[in-house]
Amino acid sequence: MFFVVPALAVIGAVVTTVFILDSLRSPLELITSYLMPYFLPGEEQSLVKRFGPWAAVTGCTDGIGRQYALELARRGLSLVLISRNPDKLAALAGEIEKQHGVKTKVIVADFSHGAPVYEHIERELGTIPVGILVNNVGVNYPYPMPLCEVPAATAWELVAVNAGAVTLLSRLLLARMAARGAGALVNVSSGSELQPLPLMTVYAATKAYVRSFTHAVREEYASRGIVVQHVSPLFVSTKMNAFSERVMRGSLLVPDAESYARSAVATLGRVQDTTGFWSHGLQYTFIKMVPVWLRTKIGHHLNKQFREEYMQNSKKKSQLTVVPRSGDLSILDRSWGIRCGDDAGGLATATCLFAAVEFWCLAPQGEVSTFRSLLVEEFR
Ligand SMILES: NC(=O)c1ccc[n+]([C@@H]2O[C@H](COP(=O)([O-])OP(=O)(O)OC[C@H]3O[C@@H](n4cnc5c(N)ncnc54)[C@H](OP(=O)(O)O)[C@@H]3O)[C@@H](O)[C@H]2O)c1
Repeated sequence: MFFVVPALAVIGAVVTTVFILDSLRSPLELITSYLMPYFLPGEEQSLVKRFGPWAAVTGCTDGIGRQYALELARRGLSLVLISRNPDKLAALAGEIEKQHGVKTKVIVADFSHGAPVYEHIERELGTIPVGILVNNVGVNYPYPMPLCEVPAATAWELVAVNAGAVTLLSRLLLARMAARGAGALVNVSSGSELQPLPLMTVYAATKAYVRSFTHAVREEYASRGIVVQHVSPLFVSTKMNAFSERVMRGSLLVPDAESYARSAVATLGRVQDTTGFWSHGLQYTFIKMVPVWLRTKIGHHLNKQFREEYMQNSKKKSQLTVVPRSGDLSILDRSWGIRCGDDAGGLATATCLFAAVEFWCLAPQGEVSTFRSLLVEEFR
């Protein structure tokens, strides 16, 4: 009985220390990675020297992935660019080759199509020795919504893209890296991995998968000379967050994709788990100090606000511009801003055409061009 109080005090001190260290891990690792070049310059090797001359980035035609590709090219790596839009891919390849004088290889692949995509990627890769694979591709709902409001195709797309691509591409390229005895796998997850996220339920669940997957694969391949890095950004102003003008405006807490990627790439080979950006590291610490049940409620509340913001803005913007049959065709040049409804054909065959200008177009590329040709038909 005499020993119970001191024993409890020791247990309390140990548990508190572990909890604080775990919460502070992200900013501490970031500080370590920023300071390493100054204190341990001998440990520094270029990415090319350490992992080889080729890197591959998925979802590289926009947002974080695009900036990852540009930053890796700036550091002298040749790039395998894997994404779904051939025009955007060709433009990016041209930009990279011109700006950085490295080689590129474009692979058109839509990860929502599932298994056959990976056979196609394997064929296209041929014998290119990819030393760094950035599993960046990811999709979310266009705006926060409860599960039953999410179209079945969208829910499946999130699982196939967010969880499927990271799994099958890692499987494909890890084997080659392990055979060479060097390589880096960078899996881009999200702060939403930390707790369930109501109104973005499927997205957060896929990111919890990425976290678990990455940590387990790291253990499996640690002895084979492979670096497996887990990158968990918080908000970055990219089109993924187009549902909120507040997020898109950016701030100290919400960097743009270029600043984010430059900072995140600087941590590669230095730390294994990172948010990738200093202010995200601080936010991550505070988030982790709050119990999961409370974080879940706060996340739900925030997403309700985002949903409300999106609905309000949609209402304002859908003060529809009426374009009569003899209307101004120049509106067609703004197809990026024309809202494609679920029933684009129905819209186009209406007596008058309604175009909600300044909308983000939520439809996939194919639908945009179909919609556009229907419009042209209607105006003829
Ligand atoms: N932005 C954030 O606040 C944030 C926060 C945490 C984590 N993340 C994670 O960071 C990663 C990048 O996000 P981001 O914000 O940069 O997204 P983004 O701006 O929407 O860019 C996504 C990229 O993936 C491509 N893509 C989408 N679906 C695809 C598919 N089915 N097949 C092939 N390519 C596809 C897009 O191609 P197109 O150019 O054709 O659209 C684009 O290049 C994701 O894993 C995301 O979950 C982002």
